[in-house]
Amino acid sequence: MPPKSSGVDEDGCKADVIVGIQWGDEGKGRIVDLYASEYDVVARFGGGDNAGHSIVVGETELALRAVPSGVLNPKTELFIGGGTVVNPQGTWAEIERLAALGIDVRRIKISDRAHVVLDYHVRADRSQEEARGAAALGTTGRGIGPAYVDKVSRAGITMAAVRSPSQLERTLESRLQPEAVEATLTALRRLTPHVVDGVSYIHERLASGKRVLIEGAQGSLLDVGYGTYPFVTSSHTIAGGACTGLGIGPTAIGRVIGVVKAYCTRVGAGPFPSELLDERGERLRVAGGEFGTVTGRPRRCGWFDAVAGRYAVMLNGLTEAAITKLDVLTGMERIGIVTEYRREGRTVGFGDAGLDGLELRIDEMPGWERPIGDCRRPSDLPAEARAYVERLAALLEVPVTHVSVGRERSQLVRWIKDRRTASDIQE
Ligand code: GDP
Ligand code: IMO
Ligand code: MG
Repeated sequence: MPPKSSGVDEDGCKADVIVGIQWGDEGKGRIVDLYASEYDVVARFGGGDNAGHSIVVGETELALRAVPSGVLNPKTELFIGGGTVVNPQGTWAEIERLAALGIDVRRIKISDRAHVVLDYHVRADRSQEEARGAAALGTTGRGIGPAYVDKVSRAGITMAAVRSPSQLERTLESRLQPEAVEATLTALRRLTPHVVDGVSYIHERLASGKRVLIEGAQGSLLDVGYGTYPFVTSSHTIAGGACTGLGIGPTAIGRVIGVVKAYCTRVGAGPFPSELLDERGERLRVAGGEFGTVTGRPRRCGWFDAVAGRYAVMLNGLTEAAITKLDVLTGMERIGIVTEYRREGRTVGFGDAGLDGLELRIDEMPGWERPIGDCRRPSDLPAEARAYVERLAALLEVPVTHVSVGRERSQLVRWIKDRRTASDIQE
């Protein structure tokens, strides 16, 4: 049985959550990698290999899909939580790729509550997209939606099935083509040593005072309940999803850190009010390398949207924000920020149904010319870049702790010096 004192140790040490506040690809992987050194466990709570999280440390560059982004911190344990959906073949291949780099993959554990993505989920995802025609959602084609549908309709297979191999084989035989049965079984057998009782796993660690960092996938505006439905993913991506995705109570959560890209991107279809369809959007795409990690699709690009941002701050209960990709704005003469939505002359919020017929108020700020990739302190940045960060913080009404100015781990400006770190809280 898991220990009773779930969540909070005697010193009040809690699990912190990192989520993306836009439509994904905010740089969550990069920020999780940075924070991971202060934590004992990094846990993913939702999604599957629709996620693509890139990390760059020195010459090493990783594109992770299922494995949490703490992987380049050698001591951090890595946990794929019960709210996720796991593609056995893909996850095994990812683990093998990491092992080939000399990474200790025994640290990777998968909750027995996670659901298995099967071959036919992938096929169903693709054929449903085709059937939608012009109304296609632009999914990643990884079978994520159909796998969650099976979970909710109580037809899914959980990772716990690996404990009863002969029954699992029979179940798979009844659902899959023979060659798919073999490939799925082989991958599941290989993953078996990684499968744990997920509830005990996380609660034992919390109760013994281990520091847990919870990693979101996708972005808040892709949340199945509160995003731009139906152009969303099929899981709860907001911080609340961390509780259901790991089987912990809200009392276990401490800080909620929002990863905020300095502009907006979206991959796939759906509303994107601040999208730039002109050469400025193209410029952001090229300068920011805005091409999907999973599908290689060009990402749609636009200005930072403070209306959407404030909505996401609210959905997540953010305690702080880390801004990424500020360097990408270098060289833009003027930088726009969407500060208000109006319809028929009246101010409306992001959550107000329907984004049709919106008029946007766009404030412009002066840009800067000097490259900022080597800046490490706020005072190193051009005054215009500092003013831009301060404006985002003021609009979001949350403190900014870090500003990322490049892909590499060290390309970072610490914004608030007196932020209490997890290790301060431990002391
Ligand atoms: P995630 O899905 O939120 O983890 O984000 P992705 O990894 O899919 O996409 C973010 C991309 O931006 C990756 O290629 C990162 O290496 C890159 N990136 C992250 N932070 C910065 C930054 O501050 N500047 C630049 N230029 N690139 C960054
Ligand atoms: P990370 O974790 C960006 C988008 C897809 C599509 C919609 C539904 O890297 O930020 P799905 O395959 O989930 O059914 O597709 O959600 N999408 C993402 N966009 N980043 C992601 O993950 C995404 N995961 C899903 O493009 O619009
Ligand atoms: Mg990504």
